[in-house]
Amino acid sequence: MSPAAIDSTAGQSIPPETNVPKPQTPDLFSLSGKTIAITGGGRGLGMTLAFAVLEAGGHVACLDILPAPSSEEWFELQKLAKMSSRTASYRRCDVTSEVEVGKAMEEIAQKGDERGAPFRGIVACAGIQQKVPALEYEAADFERILRVNVVGAFITAKQTAKILSKNKRGGSIVLVASMSGQIANRGLTCTAYNSSKSAVHQMCRSLAQEWGRYGIRVNTLSPGYIRTAMTNELLAADPEVEKTWMAGALLGKLGVPDDFKAPTVFLLAEGSRFMTGADMRVDGGHCASA
Ligand SMILES: NC(=O)c1ccc[n+]([C@@H]2O[C@H](COP(=O)([O-])OP(=O)(O)OC[C@H]3O[C@@H](n4cnc5c(N)ncnc54)[C@H](O)[C@@H]3O)[C@@H](O)[C@H]2O)c1
Repeated sequence: MSPAAIDSTAGQSIPPETNVPKPQTPDLFSLSGKTIAITGGGRGLGMTLAFAVLEAGGHVACLDILPAPSSEEWFELQKLAKMSSRTASYRRCDVTSEVEVGKAMEEIAQKGDERGAPFRGIVACAGIQQKVPALEYEAADFERILRVNVVGAFITAKQTAKILSKNKRGGSIVLVASMSGQIANRGLTCTAYNSSKSAVHQMCRSLAQEWGRYGIRVNTLSPGYIRTAMTNELLAADPEVEKTWMAGALLGKLGVPDDFKAPTVFLLAEGSRFMTGADMRVDGGHCASA
């Protein structure tokens, strides 16, 4: 069955549910025939999710403020793209620049149309973190965190939705939030980051409320602790932090980027077609116990 035949995100052009053939479960997790963009796709979680998109059958476009992606992983990603006859592209782009993001999205959409795999979704994964006690937090630093994590996520979602609504195709926007948007992490002094991720949760609900009419779904993915360059910096600065984190790890381990491949693919694919304005928390049980 072709993915288009089961596509419910395309809004008004979709026939009534009774005429739609029943989808097979693997199709519900497929990104075949779609181009997906990932901000923060130059390394860390974003880069791992780029592998997930290719493995699920899609084409992927990575965007990041880094001049070039992490070289070893990029080499492997290109190898996979070649083997699977799909594409993985990279663009340097600052998510806080409306002009840069708008231009990048237009290009990605055009390339997607040319290869017959339209732009149908994004993972807004770019983010920054900073650990400073609240009594010493400089307002300028606080604003910088909000600028990237909140305004950057908004610009990414807005520029994506502009294209999806114009092309009347619908699609899926996944905002990478955090469990820190819902709880305050014991032992961490990250008020700006936690506030920014809380804002992303509310942004998700607000955008979902506005854009459902265009067939655009908006959901958040809320990771718990993952070992990446971002958290390695926090752990290196204070070895006690890891002990505190492990105390709340119900599965006896912290996360790795691969733990987020399936949840992200699910949120992007048709399997989650009745899901919008929701949060998917993947935290190894951290928030389940006090
Ligand atoms: N690592 C964790 O434990 C954890 C937990 C919860 C949520 N998250 C979230 O997951 C996402 C990825 O985090 P990560 O751990 O892979 O961190 P990371 O620092 O390895 O990756 C973040 C990426 O965002 C990019 N970036 C930063 N500012 C940007 C900008 N202005 N424009 C474009 N790109 C920019 C960075 O260059 C980097 O490649 C972030 O949103 C983070 O808040 C991480």
